[in-house]
Amino acid sequence: MTDGNGTLPWWQTGIIYQIYPLSFQDSDGDGLGDLPGILRRIDYLAGLNVAAIWLSPVFPSPMRDFGYDVADYTSIHPRFGTLSDFDRLLAGLHGRGMKLILDLVPNHTSDQHPWFLESRSSRDNPRRNWYLWRDPAPGGGPPNNWLSFFGGPAWTFDETTGQYYLHQFTPEQPELNLRHPAVLEALLDAMRFWLDRGVDGFRVDVPWLLIKDAEFRDEPENPAWDGIAPHGRLLHVHTANQPELHAIIRAMRAVVDDYPGERVLIGETNVPEEELVKYYGAARDEFHLPFNFRLIYASWNAGEIQRLVETYEAILPQGAWPAWVLGNHDQPRIASRIGPDAARVAVMLLLTLRGTPTCYYGDELGMKNGVIPRNRIRDPQALNQPGISGVFNRDAARTPLPWDTSPNAGFAPEGTQPWLPLGQDWPMRNVACQSDDPCSMLAFFRTLTALRQRHPALNQGDYKGVETVADGVFAYTRTAGAERLLIVLDFAGCEYLLDLGALADGAEILLSTGMRRAGRVELRRLRLLANEGLVLKIS
Ligand code: NOJ
Repeated sequence: MTDGNGTLPWWQTGIIYQIYPLSFQDSDGDGLGDLPGILRRIDYLAGLNVAAIWLSPVFPSPMRDFGYDVADYTSIHPRFGTLSDFDRLLAGLHGRGMKLILDLVPNHTSDQHPWFLESRSSRDNPRRNWYLWRDPAPGGGPPNNWLSFFGGPAWTFDETTGQYYLHQFTPEQPELNLRHPAVLEALLDAMRFWLDRGVDGFRVDVPWLLIKDAEFRDEPENPAWDGIAPHGRLLHVHTANQPELHAIIRAMRAVVDDYPGERVLIGETNVPEEELVKYYGAARDEFHLPFNFRLIYASWNAGEIQRLVETYEAILPQGAWPAWVLGNHDQPRIASRIGPDAARVAVMLLLTLRGTPTCYYGDELGMKNGVIPRNRIRDPQALNQPGISGVFNRDAARTPLPWDTSPNAGFAPEGTQPWLPLGQDWPMRNVACQSDDPCSMLAFFRTLTALRQRHPALNQGDYKGVETVADGVFAYTRTAGAERLLIVLDFAGCEYLLDLGALADGAEILLSTGMRRAGRVELRRLRLLANEGLVLKIS
C-alpha cells in the first residue's frame, strides 16, 4: 500500500517526454532539428511538467535509419551539434530539474562503423566475430530463412569475403554478436562514457533481439499470418526473446547501478506481456521500466483497455513498476488512430494509470499523422516495401513540431525546407495558438501534468478498477494515504448518467478533458459527457 510520502525515485513518479531530435527545433537553418534548438525550447519543456527528456539517437550516423544506424557510440552527429552543445543541453536540463535519457542501440551498428569496416575487411580480422557472419546455404543463397523487419531476407552477401552478414533492419545495420564478451564490454564502455558525462539513463533499442539462436535454425511459418507485413510470415522463435539475452540486460543494469543518483534503464520491449514481465529480471535487476506497448495496439474500447490494464497489473512481478506509452516515432499518432477528442481521453488515461508514462512529442498538441508525398518519403521501412498496405510510413509520425504561425511554423528559419513536411493543420494546431487558448489540448496537457505532479495518488498511488455498469466507460481509483482520486473515462463517444454512489456521496471535479467543468458533484448521479474524462477527488 502506498503511503504517498514521496519516497519513490523520479523515474517512478515523473513523466518522460520523448523528443525526436530531427523534428523538434532547427537552430541553424539546415531543415533538421538539433541540440541547440532543444536548448532554446527549454522553457517549453519545463512548462510541460515532465521529469525527463528521452532523445532518439543523436550520434554520428549515415542516417539510413535516421540515427538508429550508429557509426560512433561516443560522439554527437555534426547535424545535431557538438559534444559541447550536448553538455550545455544536459546542464540546462539539470538546471531546470529535468533529467536526460539517451537512446542506446546495442543490437546493430551502421555499416560505416569502424568495427564493421574492420569486420568485413577479411575473414581473419580480429573483429570478424564482432558481427554475425555465416556461409551461404549448401545450395547457395542466404544461410537460413530469417527475415528483415523492413522486408526481404535478414542476410546480405559480402562479395569480398564470400559470407553473409545478419541484419534484421536495413542492410546498412549489421547486427553485433553480443555473445562475444568484447562486444558487450565495448557497449558497456559507451554507456559509461555518457554516464560519466552525467546522463540519467538509457532507452535500449530492440532488446528482445539481442541474442539469436546459436545454431541459426530456420524459423517456422506463422499459421496465423495476415498476409500483409512480410516479416509476420514467420514465427520468430529463434530471433526474439532468447533466454540468454537477459544476462546482457543485467550487465547493462549493473553499469547503470554503479553510478550515483537514480539513473534509469528503459527497454523498448515490444513483446507479448508474458515475455515483457521477464524483462524486469528475476531479481528486479534488468530494466527499471520495460515499455508496455499494449495501449498502442489495443482496440480502443473501455472493456479491452480495462482488461489489458488489469491483466498487466495482475501478472506484474512483486515490486515491478508499469511503463505505459501511447505512441512513439515508429507508430501512427494517437490523435489519428482514435480522433482528436478521444485523444484527450487517451492522454488522461496515460497520465492517470499507475506507472511511468512516456509522452511522444507533439501529442501534447494533439498532432496528427502528417501527409507525406511519395517523393518526400524518407523512412526505410516504407521505402523498402512500397505498395504494401499495412506497412506504416513512419515519417507521418515524425513531422516537425509546429511552434507558431510564422513561416515553417517556427521550426526552421524562413526559406529553409524542413526535412519532412509540416503536418497539414499546423496553422491552427501549434504551440503559440494553443498557449493562448485556455481550453486547448496543450492547456489540458499542462494542467493534467501539473495535477499529476501535485497528487501522490496519481504519481504513485494504488490502482483499483471501479464497476460502472456502463459498457463504454472505464473508471478506477488511485489512492495514496488518505487521498483517493476517481478517474472516469468515456471511450464510446456517448453521454452517461452514472451511479457511482457505492464509492462515496460526493466528489470534487479536479479536471475535465474539456477544461470547462469544476466543482462538487453527487456520485450517485454523475454526468459524463461524450468523449469526456474526469479526475475527481473523493471526499
Ligand atoms: C526500433 C526503433 O525505434 C526504430 O526506429 C528503428 O528503426 C529500429 N529499432 C531499428 O533500430
